[in-house]
Amino acid sequence: TIQPVILSGGSGTRLWPLSRKSYPKQFTKLVGEESLFQASARRVSGATPDVTFGRPMVLTHSDFRFVVTEQLIEVGIDPGPVLIEPEGRNTAPAILAAALRAQQDDPDAVLLVLPSDHVIPDAHAFREAVAHGVPAVKAGNLVTFGITPDRPETGYGYLELASKPDGSGAVIPLERFVEKPDSGDAKKMLADGSYLWNAGIFLFAARDIIAAFETHAPGLLAPVRAAVDQSHTDLGFCRLAPEPWAGAEDISIDYAVMERADNLSVVPYASEWSDLGSWEAVHRESETDENDNAAFGPVTAIDCKGSLLRSEDEGLELVGMGLKDMIAVAMPDAVLVAHKSRAQDVKKAVDALKAKE
Ligand code: GDD
Ligand code: MG
Repeated sequence: TIQPVILSGGSGTRLWPLSRKSYPKQFTKLVGEESLFQASARRVSGATPDVTFGRPMVLTHSDFRFVVTEQLIEVGIDPGPVLIEPEGRNTAPAILAAALRAQQDDPDAVLLVLPSDHVIPDAHAFREAVAHGVPAVKAGNLVTFGITPDRPETGYGYLELASKPDGSGAVIPLERFVEKPDSGDAKKMLADGSYLWNAGIFLFAARDIIAAFETHAPGLLAPVRAAVDQSHTDLGFCRLAPEPWAGAEDISIDYAVMERADNLSVVPYASEWSDLGSWEAVHRESETDENDNAAFGPVTAIDCKGSLLRSEDEGLELVGMGLKDMIAVAMPDAVLVAHKSRAQDVKKAVDALKAKE
């Protein structure tokens, strides 16, 4: 059995004004009929011909604990442990806490760590890829999933493979992990052809990731272990102890462990995968009309091209005219109008609004 661990602590600021600190993107119906969080959980639920999954463990902020359980139950999934982080300290402490907590129930636990904001339409192909990673996990490796890059993206990690994928889907040892390169390096790695994007999904034994923390980020171990050991249960939620937790460094798993570990293997993943991190990505993943416009809600596009028009309020008509490569998102209390090339800067808008508070 594989224990899914769903990371659901991000606030998705680049998708403002739909994604809010009070209701982050992973819980909204950004694309499709269910939330990204629900889709992530369903992808890894139950027994399938390829692998069997246990009940999902979820790590999140206290404000969303009921959203998490309600959304799981809504799609027929029995929630596993819900771990509440007193504050977000990024993915390294969160994943270490999950591994320590999972070991309490099962010393041999195997974890599949998943972000909750990815679009992976082919659940079958995904579970097959997970099954391909299992032998490497049994051999003590940390397994990542690699996506064929199609642009010099600087927002992702890059995986340098020791050999070229042969199409069988089998794991390939990793030569080097490069987290979020600058644009020059990203262009070189794209041109080189022996790099895949890190999908941000990891498969490993709890024991092996804890050992990797011991070697590569030993400073995290004491505070996170104390936060888990001193956690208390409140209405069935596991609240990590705030005091030790505050002493854990704010760092991602990619920088803390993956860039440094030498026992990484990659499962190449050939089907569609996307991180819906920005409005540009939402546009790319949406159905578009013949002029490459994506429309949601009561909107009208006149002579527009390559634009995303979205109104989240049935009573709020949004009309775009003569727009090219623009993003317009209207919420009842806030409107974003931005050029698509500035999609990564939307978090600056959130910072600017915060400064005005
Ligand atoms: N519980 C919890 N607590 N979850 C968190 C926290 C936290 O403090 N911080 C981030 N997360 C969640 C986010 O909600 C998201 O689902 C996931 O962890 C990954 O965090 P991101 O902040 O979205 O990371 P990223 O996209 O910049 O980079 C990672 O993912 C890329 C692919 O999407 C890296 O792993 C890259 O190497 C990778 O290419
Ligand atoms: Mg992300």
